[in-house]
Amino acid sequence: MERRIGRKLIIIAIDGPAASGKSTTARILAGRLGYTYIDTGAMYRSVTLGVIKAGLLDELHRDSSKVSGVIQDMTIEFRGDRVFLDGEDVSEAIRENSVSREVSFISSLKPVRDRLRELQQQMGSSKGVVMDGRDIGTVVFPEAELKIFLVADPRERARRRHAELSLKGGGDGVPTVEELEEEIRKRDRDDEERTHAPLKRHPDAVMVDTSTMTIEEQVGYVYDLVVKIVGE
Ligand code: DC
Repeated sequence: MERRIGRKLIIIAIDGPAASGKSTTARILAGRLGYTYIDTGAMYRSVTLGVIKAGLLDELHRDSSKVSGVIQDMTIEFRGDRVFLDGEDVSEAIRENSVSREVSFISSLKPVRDRLRELQQQMGSSKGVVMDGRDIGTVVFPEAELKIFLVADPRERARRRHAELSLKGGGDGVPTVEELEEEIRKRDRDDEERTHAPLKRHPDAVMVDTSTMTIEEQVGYVYDLVVKIVGE
């Protein structure tokens, strides 16, 4: 395990829109601090995948009140950086487009948010966690010692997504930067405009614009804020 700085364990909440650099920053930061990284987007994606696999998506679009029964027995856990849904490793499957397209819908449903919030609060209860998402600083851990709100220009976020997809060997199937920017803007709107736990900055959250920052700069910036709180 990496060295642990300071004596005090804290909760670090990192929120922000899609592709703003949250998960990369959170993962590296957690490694550097010897903290646990919890990717709450992966939890919403896992529930979405579970709904799709159970063949219940259309039914929920017609009548979303049935979602409580659907999620009741789902289990989601992290083992290292892998995520398991009902015991099955779904780390790759949850990144597929079919899941990305529906996750905003599923994550807008109150029973889903209530259930996952409870799980996330349990996961963070012993502190020493970096948790990223949309509502961590506002709803899940408003008392987190450090709250960060990461933002970046939509065009820049689309470029990053494009580079990431191209690197994964998407070939001709990779959407253009323009198409990705459109998708990102739509997801921002959906996440910001939903009724339950919309994406917004907690007044205490430190706003970090990563548009012109490298990953190392983003991590270093947040790391320095942690050191200020917990000491060297
Ligand atoms: O971070 P991501 O793109 O993997 O998140 C997928 C979706 O999950 C995102 O569109 C909004 C939702 N989400 C959420 O509503 N609340 C969170 N704390 C994390 C993600």
